[in-house]
Amino acid sequence: MSTPNALGAGPAEKPHTPALGHKALTPFYDAAIALATRESVWRGRMIEAIALKSDERLLDVGCGTGSLLWALAGRTPSAALVGLDPDPDVLARAKRRAGAHITFEQGFLDEAFVSAHAPFDVVASSLVLHQTPLETKRRMLRHMREALRPGGRLCIADYGLQSNGFMRMMFRVTVQALDGVEDTQPNAEGVLPALMSEAGFMDIDEVANVPTATGAISVWRAR
Ligand SMILES: C[S@@+](CC[C@H](N)C(=O)[O-])C[C@H]1O[C@@H](n2cnc3c(N)ncnc32)[C@H](O)[C@@H]1O
Repeated sequence: MSTPNALGAGPAEKPHTPALGHKALTPFYDAAIALATRESVWRGRMIEAIALKSDERLLDVGCGTGSLLWALAGRTPSAALVGLDPDPDVLARAKRRAGAHITFEQGFLDEAFVSAHAPFDVVASSLVLHQTPLETKRRMLRHMREALRPGGRLCIADYGLQSNGFMRMMFRVTVQALDGVEDTQPNAEGVLPALMSEAGFMDIDEVANVPTATGAISVWRAR
C-alpha cells in the first residue's frame, strides 16, 4: 500500500503518494530520478512524442518539481504551460526553477479543475499513475480526456508492463519498495493501455520502452 501523506490544508489534505514515496525524500527527488531512471532518455522520448507547437496549451498532471515543463519551456517558449500537483513541497521547488510563463496549480485533477481550466491541446503526465490506486488511475485518465479539446493529444510516461524477469526484479526492489505493491502492480502487469482505451482515447501507441535500474519506463501517446 502506498504511503498516504496529509500535507496540511486544502487539496493536499486528500491522501497521495509523495514524489519519492516519502515526504522526507522529496529534496532528493530530482537527483534520484536523473540517476536511477535514465531520465534524459525517456523524458527526451516524451518531449519528442508531445511535439508541442508554439500556440498550444499543455497541462502536466502531477508535475512534481516541474522537470517536464521546464524542458518544454526551453524548447517552445511561447506555448502556454500549466502544471498541476497536490503537493506544496514539490510545487515550491517547481516554482523556484521554472520560468515566469509557467502556471502552477495546487490540487488534484477533478471536475472542478477541468471546468475551470480546460480545454488543453495536450495533456501530459509522467511517473504519476503508478503511484495511484487503480480507481484513481481510471478517474484521472477520464479527466485527462475531458480536459482535452476534440482531437487533443495525451502523452504518458510511466512504468508499464515489466516484460522480463530482470525488469520485474528491479521494479520490485526499487519502485515497489518505496511506493508499495498495491498501486504499482497493475502498472507492472500492463494495465495502462487498456485503461486509456476505456477512458476514450484512440490510436494508443507505445513509442518507447526504456529499461532502467528501476524497471522499464514506457512512453505512450494517444489521441
Ligand atoms: C513521482 S512524482 C512525478 C513528478 C513529475 N511528473 C516527474 O516526471 O518528475 C509523482 C507526482 O504525482 C503527484 N501525485 C500523486 N498522486 C496524485 C494525484 N492523484 N493527482 C495528481 N498528482 C498526484 C505527487 O504529488 C508527485 O509530485
